[in-house]
Amino acid sequence: MEKLVIIEDNQEIRSQLSWGLAREYEVFVAGERLEALSLIKKHTPQVVTLDLGLPPDETGCEEGFRCLDEILRISPATKVIMITGNDDRENALRAVQNGAYDYYSKPVDLTELKGIIKRAFHLAAIENENSRLQYSINHQGLSPIGIIGTSPRMLEVFSSIRKVASSEVAVLITGESGTGKELVAKAIHVLSPRKSKEFIAINCGAIPENLLESELFGYEKGAYSGAYARVQGKVEYAHRGTLFLDEIGELPLNLQVKLLRFLQEKTIQRIGGREDIVVDARIIAATNRDIVNETETGGFREDLYYRLSVIHIKLPALRDRGEDIMLLANYFLHHYSKELGKKTRRFSADSIKLLSSYEWPGNVRELENKVQRTVIMSDGPTIEPEDLDFSVKTAKKGIHSFTNLTLKDARELVEREMVIAAIENHRNNMAKASESLGISRPTLYDLVKKHGIVKQLE
Ligand SMILES: Nc1ncnc2c1ncn2[C@@H]1O[C@H](COP(=O)(O)OP(=O)(O)OP(=O)(O)O)[C@@H](O)[C@H]1O
Ligand SMILES: [Mg+2]
Repeated sequence: MEKLVIIEDNQEIRSQLSWGLAREYEVFVAGERLEALSLIKKHTPQVVTLDLGLPPDETGCEEGFRCLDEILRISPATKVIMITGNDDRENALRAVQNGAYDYYSKPVDLTELKGIIKRAFHLAAIENENSRLQYSINHQGLSPIGIIGTSPRMLEVFSSIRKVASSEVAVLITGESGTGKELVAKAIHVLSPRKSKEFIAINCGAIPENLLESELFGYEKGAYSGAYARVQGKVEYAHRGTLFLDEIGELPLNLQVKLLRFLQEKTIQRIGGREDIVVDARIIAATNRDIVNETETGGFREDLYYRLSVIHIKLPALRDRGEDIMLLANYFLHHYSKELGKKTRRFSADSIKLLSSYEWPGNVRELENKVQRTVIMSDGPTIEPEDLDFSVKTAKKGIHSFTNLTLKDARELVEREMVIAAIENHRNNMAKASESLGISRPTLYDLVKKHGIVKQLE
């Protein structure tokens, strides 16, 4: 049965509530803080109602807030409904900011309060189901590579990963930028029988076209001027392992032909070589381009597309993953707070609204960067919308708040923001980022170090 703890010093209200609720829930009552805490330790209730004015501070609120903090420390998943005096809006809001689920103002109307309690239990049940699913996902092997998600669309993805991992078929992963395509490719490898062999990734979009062929297939000594020794290509390195062809949509047509030949015959020839070299590699490809459409316009070979997409895993955009947004936001918040040695805080209700309704054009990568930056930059007790620094508008607002800074501090702040923005806008390409800032690459690295901008550089 669902457990409810009622914390209320007024004997009359206490019995009124416990009477009114005992039919639906297993009810425990306490009249003061310590008694309440021991009940919570013992029963870990899903929902608690907490009177703000507890003895010895019946007319104030400090004892109530202290109790709220301690409840959440003992049992973070418990939904606490704060019962406040009439017209006590300020404390009500403070309670919610400090992690209360909701508040209710006296005098108590039992029917109304029942409605709030019921919703709280409902939410607790959903969260519990979520963490149960997350637990089962983690324990079926997806956690070592850290793919987070409990939305129906992601559960489908997880089930596809598990199904294809044990087979040898080629997999095509598509999805917008930052949706986790590389993460999924690695997961398939790690869960496959090839896991102890190499996972070789090659980014077809990042290597200049004239170098891509030798990068992929290698060359023999003397194949061209400057080829002083035989060099193996990435394809060969993936022998018995997995070859991940990232941004496959960028592969030039002549190399599409060579790749197709390899997929059909399972052999390659190094540039300038005659020998057929047998390579047994599992192929996973990824793209954020619409290559189905490009097969129609001739930009991508149809026969190659069919070879690569025996199984097609489509990653949903972050905006289509519902509660996964907050699941991921909290995950990154914990992760980066720990990494940076900062106390983990909570997102305020307004921040949660903002994060949940934003479009996320850069998907999980954008969310991760945003949370990381917030952990570095802000220090308040909860994370508020302005800490999340969402738009040009908020950036402009930032300039007004410079009035409290010295010129030196303001310069530092702008410098830091611009470096982060440039690196993000050029997707970690340091050459382009430094160019856009009008500084040299070593200077950019110095600034990155100076401002402690970490991880973006991965
Ligand atoms: N479901 C997830 N759980 C945890 N972290 C994730 C998840 N999805 C993506 N990430 C993180 O987001 C970042 C981007 O992921 P990844 O590089 O796999 O995306 P991508 O689809 O390959 O992006 P691009 O198209 O830009 O290459 C990485 O830091 C990754 O660890
Ligand atoms: Mg990628």
